[in-house]
Amino acid sequence: MQNPIIVALDVPTAREALELAEELGPVVGAFKIGKQLFVSEGPDVVRKLKETGTKIFLDLKFHDIPNTVSKAVQSAIDLGVDMLTVHTSGGSEMLAAAEKTSNETAAVLGIDSPLILGVTVLTSMDDANLAELGIQEETHGQVVRLAKLAASSGLRGLVCSPQEIKLLREELGNQIQLVTPGIRAESSPADDQKRTMSPAEAVKAGASWLVIGRPITLAEDPRAAAIEILNSIDPEL
Ligand code: C5P
Repeated sequence: MQNPIIVALDVPTAREALELAEELGPVVGAFKIGKQLFVSEGPDVVRKLKETGTKIFLDLKFHDIPNTVSKAVQSAIDLGVDMLTVHTSGGSEMLAAAEKTSNETAAVLGIDSPLILGVTVLTSMDDANLAELGIQEETHGQVVRLAKLAASSGLRGLVCSPQEIKLLREELGNQIQLVTPGIRAESSPADDQKRTMSPAEAVKAGASWLVIGRPITLAEDPRAAAIEILNSIDPEL
């Protein structure tokens, strides 16, 4: 089993991100760079983090015409990104273009194809928010519809909430990689997360990767917190 922990670097400066990466790199599987850090520090923070030898998940949730998304995917892979997100609501042509560019760019660079992860319905959206957009389907139905669209367009991974893991495994099988935020140990504060699952429960339900931020980054000893989480999943890791 791979180390499934992706630490969300939700910090405003490259200095803080690099400090966390140096400390945690040896005990976690990857780091997630989101909009806050990327917009404040730019692509250089990706290069610097990559130099520490870690895997990088760039979570910018691309959603645009297929050509524009392709070019952004290519730039991200040239930077050294290993995983990145796109909105599945961009449609099959956009999703297929992103996957194709990942495969082609990786072939040129002689690396494994970076994982393009589809985001389905944001967890901040409920049935009423979907109705505002003219979508009559209830949230779970829309999640499954978009997840299937992503898979049939060639995507090899999805971001999903802990509550969706089981359903998506049933619908899509075991090959697809499921990346899951909303992870909290029973003992740690939920912060603003409403429907959480423990790390071990999420892996048992079928998560491939766990995105974990504050329970590690705000811990008094982030490295010890990461090791404790890892042990709770599998003491062999
Ligand atoms: O600190 P915490 O563990 O809650 O961080 C979770 C990370 O996952 C954050 O970067 C957050 O933006 C992201 N995320 C989430 N829920 C989603 C999608 C992404 O918490 N549905």
